[in-house]
Amino acid sequence: MGEKRILCVGLVCLDIISVVERYPPEDSDSRCLSQRWQRGGNASNTCTVLALLGAPCAFMGSLAPGQAADFVRDDFQRYKVDLTHLVMHPACALPTSVVISNSTNGTRTILHAASNLPDVTAADFEHVNLSQYKWIHWEGRNASEQVKMLRRVEEHNRTCPASERVTTSVEVEKSRPELYQLFPYGDVVFVSKDVAKALGFFSAPEAVKGLRGRLKPGATLICAWAEAGADAMGPDGVLVHSDAFSPEKVVDTLGAGDTFNASVILALSRGRPLSAALAYGCQVAGRKCGVHGYAGIV
Ligand code: ADP
Ligand code: FRU
Repeated sequence: MGEKRILCVGLVCLDIISVVERYPPEDSDSRCLSQRWQRGGNASNTCTVLALLGAPCAFMGSLAPGQAADFVRDDFQRYKVDLTHLVMHPACALPTSVVISNSTNGTRTILHAASNLPDVTAADFEHVNLSQYKWIHWEGRNASEQVKMLRRVEEHNRTCPASERVTTSVEVEKSRPELYQLFPYGDVVFVSKDVAKALGFFSAPEAVKGLRGRLKPGATLICAWAEAGADAMGPDGVLVHSDAFSPEKVVDTLGAGDTFNASVILALSRGRPLSAALAYGCQVAGRKCGVHGYAGIV
């Protein structure tokens, strides 16, 4: 049998990206340099990067019918992302983001329309055959349902041989307090700069040291901080840091965090030490910032 898959649970949406030379003034009427549709959503982007890095992966999330949904499904298939666990909602619409991408400094301004599409539930997750996966990653969204999914994996891990265990990771990216209940679950927890700041921390090392107590014993906490790179602490309590790897010119930071998560997950899943995984994450995310979209990251 080949390498087991990595499953990412979370959002897929349509990103409508307008690339501009400078951010437009409010109530102005200007031309952009280019415009494109791109499959988006954190878990979906993480799958894109895993696929580009050569890791077999699968996406679990909700989908609605329509032209935008056909576009994202075709794109997943182009990247050979397994879609067995897509849950269809015929009466709903696909969420959409309008993104202003400033190619002069790489900033991405996102306006997200969440739509009526519900997230996948613990009942949907019951259908997942855990033995097919070596790693399952959750983008923190409907946290109380996601906690039930994580508990199911913990139970599975308690009752199966060590070689069959599934590693779990969780991303706490939005500063919504209901997401903070996810901290004590993943084997690996990614906390964003936004959440760290909302919780009163001013740097990645401070956040990692200050938030580590919220994790289960033996878990690893990772915090990426844009140009400052990323910091992490594993079960040994040693603080690990990687500088950012800045490209010659930062042109597009949309999905930099999702790229970082994918690369770190892949490295850790292949047994690399935390410091090497962090450096790899910053390297690949830095490359991503230097190109539009994801195609140029490998
Ligand atoms: P996001 O805002 O997409 O969640 P982050 O700011 O958390 O992304 O950045 C994730 C990683 O991407 C950082 O650890 C860093 O390695 C890389 N990165 C992000 N922005 C830059 C930048 N401007 N220059 C170089 N690397 C960057
Ligand atoms: C990038 C991203 C976009 C999406 C938005 C949703 O991290 O996943 O692709 O539009 O965030 O919040």
